[in-house]
Amino acid sequence: MVMTRLRTARLAIDGGAPVRDPHTPWPTWPQPADGAVEELTAVLHSGRWAISSPRRGELAERRFAAMFAEYTGTRHCVPTDHGSSALVIALESLGLPHGEHVIVPALTWTATATAVFRAGLVPVLADVDPWTGCLHPDTLDPDVDARALIAVHWACVMADVPALSAAVAPRGVTVVEDAAQAHGARWQGRPAGSLGRLGCFSMQHSKVLTSGEGGAVVTDDDTLAPVLEELRADSRRYGPHRRERVLELVETASMMGSNFCLGEFAAALLCAQLGLLDRQHAVRNRNYERLSGLLAGIPGVRLLRRPPAQDRLSMYEVPIVFDPLPPTADNTWVAHALSAELGTRVYTPRTPLPRSPLLRPWTKPAIAPLSERFTEVHRGRTYPGAEYLAGHAVLLHHSAFLGEGQDMEDIANAVAKVAAGPRPCGARTHRTANTDGTDREAFVAPEAETDGHD
Ligand SMILES: Cc1ncc(COP(=O)(O)O)c(C=O)c1O
Repeated sequence: MVMTRLRTARLAIDGGAPVRDPHTPWPTWPQPADGAVEELTAVLHSGRWAISSPRRGELAERRFAAMFAEYTGTRHCVPTDHGSSALVIALESLGLPHGEHVIVPALTWTATATAVFRAGLVPVLADVDPWTGCLHPDTLDPDVDARALIAVHWACVMADVPALSAAVAPRGVTVVEDAAQAHGARWQGRPAGSLGRLGCFSMQHSKVLTSGEGGAVVTDDDTLAPVLEELRADSRRYGPHRRERVLELVETASMMGSNFCLGEFAAALLCAQLGLLDRQHAVRNRNYERLSGLLAGIPGVRLLRRPPAQDRLSMYEVPIVFDPLPPTADNTWVAHALSAELGTRVYTPRTPLPRSPLLRPWTKPAIAPLSERFTEVHRGRTYPGAEYLAGHAVLLHHSAFLGEGQDMEDIANAVAKVAAGPRPCGARTHRTANTDGTDREAFVAPEAETDGHD
């Protein structure tokens, strides 16, 4: 009854009354955990703000590494300064020859692909399944000769890493998980990050576990773990001695590294935030189930399909897919219309990587020599699954799910109202360069807006 009334009401984007009272606040993000101030203050007065300085008691970085290894059910965790550098060192640790191919999904944040270039390798973009937003064995081209595959757990759905591994292992392909958006998700009880040979995480501001900037690689591989340590600390590892006022990192130098170390303030903050994560998952996941039930009553609208084997969600963003879009509308308009109804930011997925302006290796001299291979391997390829989701989904940040059940009613009511909404005028098109070197028309509505980061 409420929904029927809403379907005929004037849209907020056209000056009508919004579904949600503009004075009702949404949960804020990020939310400091209990104990965060104490953790940060302890570092402030510790006399040690970096792992590369002389020892003065226990490092927060070592403490966080142990806690996060336990959380992900892995033997080793090597913290890094960003999720991007976690991906770089994970790939470098494999010791692959320069210019080898690495399979990357066409729908992900650009860092999944740029990290491949930074490791001296060439990303080969593969389409995603439009039901899940993730790679699937059926979306892989068996003719691509690759040495590694990065399985991204996208938005709130996990890629089927066991099936992907089974599909590519006979060809000697190593599976690396990009779990930047999936801290705490589980597949048949196994935590995200523990299913591939290496798992990479981001702790950037918008992630469910955050220290503003930060990252980590986890693995069960005892051979790769010390290499990862060196790769992120300029060829240094933790030495066997723990003497006060003596450097803890020693120059083992088996493989040339870079400085990708996590600072002590970020590490201390992560120790506190990790204690809050599962409680926040419980609230978000309860709200997600509620929204899922409410949206089931709205024809043509769906959430991503969650594989039955994924027994715990970790939602980073929640895509709401309109199949079909409202009459004569595009999803940029839908995002604007929902933002106006709800008073929170609803946005479209990023441009798929095959035509993303953020993935242009020819603009960077150190990487440009790989761009010819990159362009060549993508010639003539299409990505209907990624393009479909990029054109039909709108996203809500996970923080919108940290509040009350009433918030879900508001979201569902706004979706029902907008799903029947009219089309704005003034849409335009622009041209972008594709990875195959051609131009393609891409639809962009006025004031198109996407998330600032991944
Ligand atoms: C899927 C994915 N991979 C990699 C990254 C890179 O992480 P960071 O921004 O911490 O470098 C992000 C997040 O930004 C991401 O969402």
